[in-house]
Amino acid sequence: MSSQDFDLILDPSKLPEHVAIIMDGNGRWAKKKGLPRIYGHKKGVETAKKIILKTYELGIPVLTLFAFSKENWERPKSEIETIFELLKFYLENELENMQKKEIKFVAIGDIEDFPKDLQKRIKYTEDVTKENKKMKLCLALSYGGRTEIIRATKIIADKVKKGEVDPEEINEKLFRKFLYTADLPDPDLLIRTSGELRISNFLLFQMAYTEFYFTPICWPDFDEKEYIKALYSYQQRERRFGRIYEF
Ligand code: IPE
Ligand code: IPE
Ligand code: MG
Repeated sequence: MSSQDFDLILDPSKLPEHVAIIMDGNGRWAKKKGLPRIYGHKKGVETAKKIILKTYELGIPVLTLFAFSKENWERPKSEIETIFELLKFYLENELENMQKKEIKFVAIGDIEDFPKDLQKRIKYTEDVTKENKKMKLCLALSYGGRTEIIRATKIIADKVKKGEVDPEEINEKLFRKFLYTADLPDPDLLIRTSGELRISNFLLFQMAYTEFYFTPICWPDFDEKEYIKALYSYQQRERRFGRIYEF
């Protein structure tokens, strides 16, 4: 790392409102060290805690972490079970901290796919933290962007059938109300670790104008400094949203 990296000063007036992260590379991180993939997931939880805390300290109001995708159900059962255990353990252990810091926990995705005990823990954490106002921590769990869009379409189609929605009224604003992210702003910045240059079915509708930041660093090695680098890169960009800025 060059000495320059330590000097990055963020502009507090230009922080993103919502950062989304694809926490990738746990398995490869472990493999490189000759360890089973689950060690990567364990270390990955520690990284997540550090990045959540940094987000909170910086005053960024929303952080969404992609923790388990619809496609991840295709992984070996033993790996899936370990991820669930880590998640349950995390939710149980962090509740007190969330309350202390006034962090509101929300889950997006098909939560009903999970075992009952985990579903209960997710709902309980959402419920207990629902009045917290300082930051929103959103975990994408059994989440898939295409499934989310199709789900919203079905809900709207059903409402049309019942006469509750006039097809003429269907626009972007109405559609958003039926996405899992109805209460969240679109992500301003997406970070993906591990060098993969794809979005892997994450927040497809919501990321139409998100700024992307990719880093080769695997998630267990990602840290506050790397996070600041990503935020700094974001702050150097001119977001045009299709417009032009003439001088
Ligand atoms: C990301 O790391 C965590 C999850 C998808 C749950 P991976 O497990 O995908 O690690 P790699 O990409 O195989 O290295
Ligand atoms: C995306 O990572 C999902 C999560 C980080 C939870 P994957 O490792 O599952 O994505 P692909 O398979 O490399 O696209
Ligand atoms: Mg991966």
